[in-house]
Amino acid sequence: MSFPKGFLWGGATAANQLEGAWNEDGKGVSISDISTGGSAKQSKRFTPVFEEGTYYPSHVAIDHYHRYKEDIKLFAEMGFKVYRFSINWTRIYPTGFEDEPNEKGLAFYDDLIDECNKYNIEPLITLCHYEIPFEIVKKYKGFASRETIDLFMKYATTVFERYKGKVKYWLTFNEINNGTNPVGGPLALGVLGDTENASEFIHPVNDDPEVRFQALHHTFVASALAVIIGHQIDPNFKIGCMQIMATSYALTPDPKDQILNQQHNHIMNWFCSDVQCRGAYPRYMNRYFKEHNINIKMLPGDTEILRDGHVDFYTCSYYMSFCQTTHDNREEVAGNMMGGTANPYLKASDWGWQIDPIGLRYALNEIYDRYQMPIMVVENGLGAYDEKGEDGMVHDTYRIDYLRQHIEQMKEAVEDGVDLIGYTSWGCIDLVSASTGEYAKRYGYIYVNKFDDGSGDFSRERKESFYWYKKVIETNGEDLTDVDTTDLRP
Ligand code: BG6
Repeated sequence: MSFPKGFLWGGATAANQLEGAWNEDGKGVSISDISTGGSAKQSKRFTPVFEEGTYYPSHVAIDHYHRYKEDIKLFAEMGFKVYRFSINWTRIYPTGFEDEPNEKGLAFYDDLIDECNKYNIEPLITLCHYEIPFEIVKKYKGFASRETIDLFMKYATTVFERYKGKVKYWLTFNEINNGTNPVGGPLALGVLGDTENASEFIHPVNDDPEVRFQALHHTFVASALAVIIGHQIDPNFKIGCMQIMATSYALTPDPKDQILNQQHNHIMNWFCSDVQCRGAYPRYMNRYFKEHNINIKMLPGDTEILRDGHVDFYTCSYYMSFCQTTHDNREEVAGNMMGGTANPYLKASDWGWQIDPIGLRYALNEIYDRYQMPIMVVENGLGAYDEKGEDGMVHDTYRIDYLRQHIEQMKEAVEDGVDLIGYTSWGCIDLVSASTGEYAKRYGYIYVNKFDDGSGDFSRERKESFYWYKKVIETNGEDLTDVDTTDLRP
């Protein structure tokens, strides 16, 4: 069993979680910039009015804006073939409403892309990774208003034109299906129920499913238009969708659990990718909309846009799995942007996410059976507390175990016949957590000396996993064994 030749190994990040420099060089405020720090126990908050003395992690993050050269060099040292990052919409159009783009923002991504290309690292760019301009949130409730489609298209067209010839792979919206959850309303769609008062991240106030699903519709149209126009601008572009894939099993063989699980999968795991990959709304949504009193307003022409703007490839994040049950004796567990029923066969991470490498093989087969499109896993990894050992290095063998097991299962999926073309593990360099705003939840191969109490000098250090992943890439995933770090101490 082996990975195909040319397999795209790399890592993934998002602008709001690593760049910092939140108001430098003309950058505007995004939805993530009004989000406070939090922890596993204390939910983050969105504060539409900045609170004096409150900590906003995206404002400095890991200062990548000033250190990107050092970071890309470290990625190159690991042998990255691809680097997934997002362009922060608010660096290009600070409020979203300007007629002309911000040249300094464009120049930053020119430099970043050139730096990747210098090392033959293929850029994989997410157009919108939880970074909708806050002015659009205030004026239009993000994608709840149709006008936002045009604002997004202005931005997408600007960056497509600017970076054509240097970038081939694009993703439209990060974890678009997060919009099927209340928690995804503000982050993924810009739908914030109250734009004057603070709102909890976990339970956003005034969540209105009809508004959210309408916003999702506009996001689908925007994504499809980006695919259509992107292909016109550069026929070599490959433009993909990006979903949260959280494998879901029925907890018991009770047929009621099976149906519940199927319904959950329809809404959470398949609805958005069915629209984006097949180019049309799936029929099971008719019943869901009817039973939830949701009326979606579509304009003439939307059906054709969705049909013509289906994506070129499918991508997803994969961290954990859940169960579904109709039975009462269920134990609730946490997970990426949502919770579910615990699986007694699995163990959880320090943040309670249930680790399930086989669930990744299962998911990849399901996805490929459904769409027969190339697939990339563009997020996967273990958020963990890291401590330096006596030799000064972080020996993150738990992370290596997690990654190894998932890579083994990807290999199985390739052997099953899945057209898997790449893998970018999440947070290849430690960054700020999306759900809790912490530095303490680390994913990286590269340790960043920055801590939740504000201390730290942002310096970067290689962890044990850095050397391990380098070997994995060098051998195209053949050698997943441990590395000896004796001679590699800092
Ligand atoms: C995904 C997001 O939800 O998971 C990332 O696309 C996020 O932005 C990642 O960071 C891991 O989640 P967390 O909450 O541990 O940062």
